[in-house]
Amino acid sequence: VIDVRKLYGDDGYFTYDPGFTSTGSCQSKITYIDGENGVLLHRGYPIEELAEHSDFMEVCYLLLHGELPTAKEKKDFEHNITYHTMLHEQIHAIYRGFRRDAHPMALMVGVVGALSAFYHDSLDISDARQREIASHRLIAKVPTIAAMAYKYSVGQPFVYPRNDLGFAENFLRMTFAVPAEEYKVNPVVAKAMDKIFILHADHEQNASTSTVRVAGSSGANPFACIAAGIASLWGPAHGGANEAVLAMLRQIGHKDRIPEFIKRAKDKDDPFRLMGFGHRVYKNYDPRAAVIRKSCHEVLDALGIRDEPLLDLAMELERIALHDEYFVERKLFPNVDFYSGIILQAVGFPTSMFTVLFAVARTVGWVAQWNEMIEDPEQRISRPRQLYTGHDKRSYTPINKR
Ligand code: ACO
Repeated sequence: VIDVRKLYGDDGYFTYDPGFTSTGSCQSKITYIDGENGVLLHRGYPIEELAEHSDFMEVCYLLLHGELPTAKEKKDFEHNITYHTMLHEQIHAIYRGFRRDAHPMALMVGVVGALSAFYHDSLDISDARQREIASHRLIAKVPTIAAMAYKYSVGQPFVYPRNDLGFAENFLRMTFAVPAEEYKVNPVVAKAMDKIFILHADHEQNASTSTVRVAGSSGANPFACIAAGIASLWGPAHGGANEAVLAMLRQIGHKDRIPEFIKRAKDKDDPFRLMGFGHRVYKNYDPRAAVIRKSCHEVLDALGIRDEPLLDLAMELERIALHDEYFVERKLFPNVDFYSGIILQAVGFPTSMFTVLFAVARTVGWVAQWNEMIEDPEQRISRPRQLYTGHDKRSYTPINKR
């Protein structure tokens, strides 16, 4: 705590807390994390139970409304979401303005932000009905936007949403179906994708969610706020970690080389770190990692992929690290990203789409948190303080005297 009166007059004290690691920026009823014990609850329900028994649409409803839906509520909710999956035809023209080799996250930031220019009947944030429509539109349209970003990058025609399919199934079809060819979604793959969406749906006040709240605190419209969240997620320290895990596994290349890389990960003079290990909040096994590890085996089995060398390597790496004093002492366990990249690669996604998939899943968390913030009477515009370390007051020097 710093006395800033000298710097700022009578403003009193503020907390200097880079990265806000000790600052509670809001109150929330959505997600609870106990990092010491590896617990993650959504509205009180353990993530393991949701991943095992629920589905993504139900989890979306739960995050938004606070309770699990009745059968009728779920049907109505699914109807509302599928009703909004289409994009305005003019949005297709926006894609053509991007280079083909643009990163799909660049398209995501641009196109999701551009929704503000199309759906004027859901921009008034003081109107609960408009907020609800905007929320449904975002959850429904972000997967369509994501699949089209992929299609655009590979030069294939867009595949329109099919509203008789489930959320994950529809997304897989929009991504991988090509005209004139029958596309059948493998139900095990669809189930695994649905689980991945559940596992990434929300994670309280991480960087992208905080970004959404900060953007929204000024009264910005929800489409603009979610675009801001997507921009924050794009960073490699946040959404890009599973991509880094795959790169690391490829770099290690063979089980025989694991000890060499474990040694490097422990060496403080070597920048190499074990990607997919450790977490800012979890100092125990990330509960999501256990679910995804099991899914990984199921997907590879269903796709008939036997002896996937990267999976063998990952499991051996995990086994060795979990018995290594360095990792045990520091409570470094595999996180959710350790196995998810292997699944996504097996399903056929290029690594550039990994963060996009994260955004598809996290949209509901962002939307739920944004709604909670708007409805919180204590909410104020976000305005952190700073510790000024620049010059004292000085006089302007004309350019010919410098
Ligand atoms: N490999 C080797 N050593 C590690 C690793 C790792 N992956 N992670 C942490 N450590 C070491 C640190 O060097 C430090 O050692 P020291 O005490 O001897 O100095 C100790 O463990 C504590 O680490 P911190 O950096 O304090 O942990 P922090 O909570 O700040 O970092 C982070 C968490 C950034 C996730 C880190 O563990 C990391 O870089 N992991 C690899 C990247 C990764 O998997 N990121 C995905 C996170 S999950 C997500 O975003 C969805």
